[in-house]
Amino acid sequence: MYEMKPEYYTGIQTIDQEHTRLFELAEETHQLLHDDFLQDKTDNLIHLISELINYTRTHFAHEEEYQRSINYAGIEDHIALHRKFEDKLMEFDFDSLGEDFNSQNDTAEELLGFLANWLVTHILQVDMLYVKK
Ligand code: FEO
Repeated sequence: MYEMKPEYYTGIQTIDQEHTRLFELAEETHQLLHDDFLQDKTDNLIHLISELINYTRTHFAHEEEYQRSINYAGIEDHIALHRKFEDKLMEFDFDSLGEDFNSQNDTAEELLGFLANWLVTHILQVDMLYVKK
């Protein structure tokens, strides 16, 4: 369900590979949300959010490095959006996940909604701006 589509490709191999991994993480979140057999999703959620934090940091560093290499004029605004995304991810509170299935699903749903929306709009509307320069 969550995967790279032709319109998401920048043509820059490293960036496209990293965006692909981010879509995989969105898909993993989707599958976790709809897994009705797993009694406790806490560990999976913590793992997913941690992986997202680490992976986006790596991706953003590569992307910002690339933008510097091409003297992209919009880099400061772009960096600000990356930091905003990181701040939002850090707001997911591991301690308040709770033990009940519904609150864990609420967290998974919130994470997925944020991630899916951000991935698509950021890649199409923000990342593509430096690609077209
Ligand atoms: Fe691919 Fe600006 O994140």
